[in-house]
Amino acid sequence: MDSDDEVLVILAAYVAAKENEDLSNIKGQSKRRRPNCWVNPYLQLRKEKGRFQNDFQNMVQNPTMFYQNFNMNESEFNNLFSLVEPHLVPKRNSRPDAIPLRAKLAIALEYFATGDLQCHVGSTYRISKQHMGRTIDLVSDAISTALHGEFPKWNSENMLKWATDFMEHWHFPNCIGAIDGKHVAIRAPPNSGNAFHNSKGFHSIMLMAVCDASYRFTYIDVGAYGSETEMTAFSHCSLGKAILSGNVAFPEDSMLQGVRTPYYIVADEAFQLHKRIMKPYGARKLSKSERIFNYRLSRARRCIEKAFGILSKRWMAVQDTLRCGPDRAQNVTVACCYLHNYLMRVSPREYGARVESPLMQSPADPAAESFRGRVQDFPKHVRNTIRDYVNSAVGSVPGQNESAGVLH
Ligand SMILES: *[C@@H]1O[C@H](CO)[C@@H](O)[C@H](O)[C@H]1NC(C)=O
Ligand SMILES: *[C@@H]1O[C@H](CO)[C@@H](O)[C@H](O)[C@H]1NC(C)=O
Ligand SMILES: *[C@@H]1O[C@H](CO)[C@@H](O)[C@H](O)[C@H]1NC(C)=O
Repeated sequence: MDSDDEVLVILAAYVAAKENEDLSNIKGQSKRRRPNCWVNPYLQLRKEKGRFQNDFQNMVQNPTMFYQNFNMNESEFNNLFSLVEPHLVPKRNSRPDAIPLRAKLAIALEYFATGDLQCHVGSTYRISKQHMGRTIDLVSDAISTALHGEFPKWNSENMLKWATDFMEHWHFPNCIGAIDGKHVAIRAPPNSGNAFHNSKGFHSIMLMAVCDASYRFTYIDVGAYGSETEMTAFSHCSLGKAILSGNVAFPEDSMLQGVRTPYYIVADEAFQLHKRIMKPYGARKLSKSERIFNYRLSRARRCIEKAFGILSKRWMAVQDTLRCGPDRAQNVTVACCYLHNYLMRVSPREYGARVESPLMQSPADPAAESFRGRVQDFPKHVRNTIRDYVNSAVGSVPGQNESAGVLH
């Protein structure tokens, strides 16, 4: 029975109850049959007036508007739907709700893409608050399951490929990825104390991500408390634990100008220097070659900033405040990252377009902070090797002196 039938039955029951009531009064009985559920008349008109049956069809004829609302064109929407549909089919024994599966995908995508209030998106589709919440949870999960293959394995073959791409695009050797953490703002959860309160003054969960040279995520971890530092969040996530304990099967070290050099990820000052994590030099007085290294590292590292830039421009839900509990916020963020990877693969030009590259806006990272704590010698040695490389004739790129502010 779908819920529109349900509504009719309920209305019938209500009428019957009313009649009974009158009769029962006459008979002196006090027992009243009440309808067990009341359906808002506005929501009852979903089929006639709801956004899916009306606007959705019109939007199809207006590709620009369609794209704005869903971050994909109609044929991409259909392709995505065919991937996600099997995971949206209601489980046996669950209560059906008469919302078409395509509409569910549309509802969730529009919510992710516009960052609108849940209750607002829900009301345009004429679905109840409860159905809206359930739809978001269902579709988030379905997307993450259906697009599982969009995240690559961290095997030697893939890592070498990422390193080749970083070398090709940014001329940075042995780099397999760029890592950073992004705070996704959420509504302050009740009774959470300061756990989600981050140093920037709002409540958030952290998205820790690594991306490749084409702005696709190769790893994400969502859910660290906003109050954690990036380094803490990193050391607690599965990748961080594996890297810090030497359990990631990185490719064999390669020779860089005669020096054995490991493969690594680039990061900013918030991280700790490690054999597998290269960060900028942080001394107060930097040599010219160190400044050039910092500039070159920041070029590679900005891939992750650009990836976050595209993600949050396309999916406003993760740019604005997610007004929901941390559990839903976590699944929504994960789903948006899967969609990001999927769309960066199937339509990189359109999806990745019109997002300014931060690369050209400012020169090198200022790297003003000095090192705190002890750093072991080997990572420094690796960094010096790369420094020497990017300063060598073969490793330099045109204009790097000017960009790094190094003049004769
Ligand atoms: C979030 O996703 C996890 C894993 O798929 C699932 O077990 C959990 O129920 C989801 N949470 C919500 C609120 O949907
Ligand atoms: C939709 O986008 C895909 C991928 O960018 C493109 O190949 C296709 O031509 C587009 N379809 C329409 C109808 O615009
Ligand atoms: C760039 O700066 C380095 C270090 O000061 C210097 O050795 C090199 O000649 C400069 N290159 C150019 C093209 O100016």
